[in-house]
Amino acid sequence: MARVVLGMLGLGTVGTGVVELLSKHRHLTLKKVAVKDVQKERDVKPNCPLTTDVNEIINDPEIEVLVEVMGGENPTVSYLEQAIKKRKHIVTANKEVLAKHGPRLFALAKEHGVAIFFEASVAGGVPLLSTIHKGLEANEIESVTGILNGTTNFILSKMEAGNSYASALKEAQELGFAEADPTADVDGFDVAYKLSVLAALGFGHFVKPDTIYKEGIRNITEEDMALAKEFGYRIKLLGTAARGGSNGNSGFDVRVHPTLVPLDHPLASVSGPNNGILVRGHAVGQLTLIGPGAGKLPTASAVVGDLMNLAGALKLPDFASYFQPAIDASPASAAPPDSWKCPFYLRLVVKDTPGVIGKLGTIFGAHNISISTIIQRGVEGQAATVVILTHDVLGKDMNAAIAELKKSDFLASKDEIGNAIRIFRAA
Ligand SMILES: NC(=O)c1ccc[n+]([C@@H]2O[C@H](COP(=O)([O-])OP(=O)(O)OC[C@H]3O[C@@H](n4cnc5c(N)ncnc54)[C@H](OP(=O)(O)O)[C@@H]3O)[C@@H](O)[C@H]2O)c1
Repeated sequence: MARVVLGMLGLGTVGTGVVELLSKHRHLTLKKVAVKDVQKERDVKPNCPLTTDVNEIINDPEIEVLVEVMGGENPTVSYLEQAIKKRKHIVTANKEVLAKHGPRLFALAKEHGVAIFFEASVAGGVPLLSTIHKGLEANEIESVTGILNGTTNFILSKMEAGNSYASALKEAQELGFAEADPTADVDGFDVAYKLSVLAALGFGHFVKPDTIYKEGIRNITEEDMALAKEFGYRIKLLGTAARGGSNGNSGFDVRVHPTLVPLDHPLASVSGPNNGILVRGHAVGQLTLIGPGAGKLPTASAVVGDLMNLAGALKLPDFASYFQPAIDASPASAAPPDSWKCPFYLRLVVKDTPGVIGKLGTIFGAHNISISTIIQRGVEGQAATVVILTHDVLGKDMNAAIAELKKSDFLASKDEIGNAIRIFRAA
């Protein structure tokens, strides 16, 4: 196979895995790697020099492909732009830079006749993007739904086993699954970036990450986990990207939030740091993919797979256009959460006084909410926990009901309901 010369930005978790895997593919020759600190102790020694000067890679005419495993938005986006203008193909694992700057980067790549490969940016080692892009090419992709963040899935699995959120997060940090600042994972940003990338591939439009509804897992308690199980559910952080219309909406239905998933649903059995994704195509129906969504070698497997694909096609005329998905130059917005319909789980802590259930029924009825199940637990004369499962509710109706509940005189803690979590409804 013809030799292909690579330059790489980053030699952290993923970069280290890439170097390890490249040792078996000698035709993919790493010429230089840019890092922040060349003196740092490393687990691997690449067979090439390290540099802190990214320009040495970008301006090297012999380097045909830039492998970006450095992460972050800035200065990464400008390095990618410069490399594309120098007609280098890009292989990246960076969902954030794609979600925020994808339309511009893909337009620039088209203008300069180069390709951007990004399998590793979503679901790590699971070949999700190539499945959507090539394997399901004959389909109109209707929806992609799933567990797209291994860190939060690990934390929720630990909470289900009886750990508190704080101790599960600490364990995830000690094992290297979670960053010291876990915001991107636990508040849903990471999943939102991945959904934007999935929407680009599946629907032809990146979705602006700041329009995507994000609700993370910080408010989930062990009590919610235990109650969900009693009702036959497991709580998962799900990301959904669906074409408008599937749920009575216009526009794209793109969102990330905790969800009660029925115990017998395939996504309920995805545990620990794994990812699990349902892809629905109009012809194929539904596929389920489950596997390692992060980690050194699983993610490097996706990066090096991209490099091998790219190397195999590099000498063919006009190959870049064959690999590039048709993505619109203008990003789309996600539909507002008010317009989706799904059942809800609601946990309320109320004063244990007569008539509370009747008052709850009145408030829900006034907002078109029909209750499917209600239970009350508590010691007489003290606070009681009321758990309500509803039938399908519009987001705006549930929000209005919650606002009215917060003004009522029967909540045990003023202005505080326990929790409101959506229940799975196929997109
Ligand atoms: N980790 C995963 O499991 C995983 C899974 C899927 C996708 N990804 C994506 O892969 C990318 C890399 O993640 P990672 O976990 O490998 O990150 P990481 O371990 O933090 O490594 C980042 C690397 O980039 C280098 N770097 C940072 N800023 C730089 C700069 N300004 N100039 C030159 N080098 C710089 C660092 O240099 P030093 O080594 O000198 O500090 C380090 O080698 C991210 O986009 C991430 O979202 C990661």
